[in-house]
Amino acid sequence: MFLVGPPGAGKSTLARKLAFLAGLTCIDLDSYIEQFAMTSIRSIFAQQGEQVFRDIEAECLRIVAAHPHPVIVACGGGIIERPENRSLLKEQGFVVFLNRTPLESFKRIDNFTMRPLLTSKEQAAALGERRAPLYEEVADYTICNVHCTCSVMAHNLLDEL
Ligand code: S3P
Repeated sequence: MFLVGPPGAGKSTLARKLAFLAGLTCIDLDSYIEQFAMTSIRSIFAQQGEQVFRDIEAECLRIVAAHPHPVIVACGGGIIERPENRSLLKEQGFVVFLNRTPLESFKRIDNFTMRPLLTSKEQAAALGERRAPLYEEVADYTICNVHCTCSVMAHNLLDEL
């Protein structure tokens, strides 16, 4: 299962909860990328630029999608930018869109170091608006009621499967 949605939507927390409840492995794609590249996301963006980050992200997505066992993957907010990633997500697994608005998501962010693309609320809103149809394109299931707790969201989702 793959979780997608804007930065700060709560994908990583929900992925950890789901994995715990379902007894599956949780993979946070941003952390996986940092281990794979042996450097931080901030420094990939600063030293090599966004397109190199997107190349690494696409490669890491291909690797985790080929995992031999079922896994819960929290994807970075920009995973839907590349058509190849969208195709892979649609083919490979059950994709859940955590549909929190970009502004709500932005308010929840306390760590901006993994998110060099986010500079202001306005910019997060514009990014979210542009990406919304791309999240919808890949989603098999959309969580709209994001005001309930992570635990309730996880239980509801597992009940749906
Ligand atoms: C990005 C979101 C980040 C991270 C990178 C790029 C984006 O992940 O992958 O900074 O393009 O929106 P989160 O959604 O976990 O913050």
